[in-house]
Amino acid sequence: MRKKIVAGNWKMNKTLTESKVLIKELKKATKGIKLKNTRVIIAPCYVNLQHAVKKTKNGIIEVASQNMHQATSGAYTGEVSADMLLDIGVKTVILGHSERRDHFGEIDGSLTEKVNTAIGNNLEVIFCFGEQLEDREANNHFKIIEAQLKNVLFHLEANSLQQIVLAYEPVWAIGTGKTASADQAQEMHAFIRGLFSEKYGTETANTISILYGGSVKPANAEEIFSKPDVDGGLIGGASLNANDFAAIIKAI
Ligand code: PGA
Repeated sequence: MRKKIVAGNWKMNKTLTESKVLIKELKKATKGIKLKNTRVIIAPCYVNLQHAVKKTKNGIIEVASQNMHQATSGAYTGEVSADMLLDIGVKTVILGHSERRDHFGEIDGSLTEKVNTAIGNNLEVIFCFGEQLEDREANNHFKIIEAQLKNVLFHLEANSLQQIVLAYEPVWAIGTGKTASADQAQEMHAFIRGLFSEKYGTETANTISILYGGSVKPANAEEIFSKPDVDGGLIGGASLNANDFAAIIKAI
């Protein structure tokens, strides 16, 4: 079912001690917020996931991982499997974030394997994709987005799309303070939904949540979220401050 989602990607921030404080503050800041068809997700680093799951039980906040390995188990030093996430109660994983692509060599091939593993293990995927600044300047952004989606997701059966949340994150807007305008976000989100509509039919396309990510802040969230094809946001920097994150949730 298409839901509105506000997801916080904490990236490599917050020790366990700091994470405990932030979760406490978040619970306080979000107390009393009435959510209508809206989910709130936070994605701390691996070592803080178990604690986060425990501390958010029975509340409105869900917990996601920032990554996962595609193999079931084995000789992959430093990696974490789907089973390991599921066993501590994590049901959602972010895959394909541009920082994973840019700094850790994630490519369509490995991302396809990761998506398949996640789906096969009943994990939900927040799949991130987005164009670089030079792609947009060369007016290639639609082509790039189409390829990123087709290469990694379009082999899936329609019913597997229930486990996919899309996160359009123009790379030039991530952590830069530059946001795509609400109209630019809407234009791209409508294009994305159109691609899924062509491949899977309009009914299925209309069930997919498409989040926008890239410098979403309390000051711009409401305008971005007001667009019909923008179903929420993937928030980096502003998710590290409980009051800012709560304000963004209220803006949806
Ligand atoms: P930002 O990050 O909100 O700090 O731009 C977004 C993201 O990387 O998901």
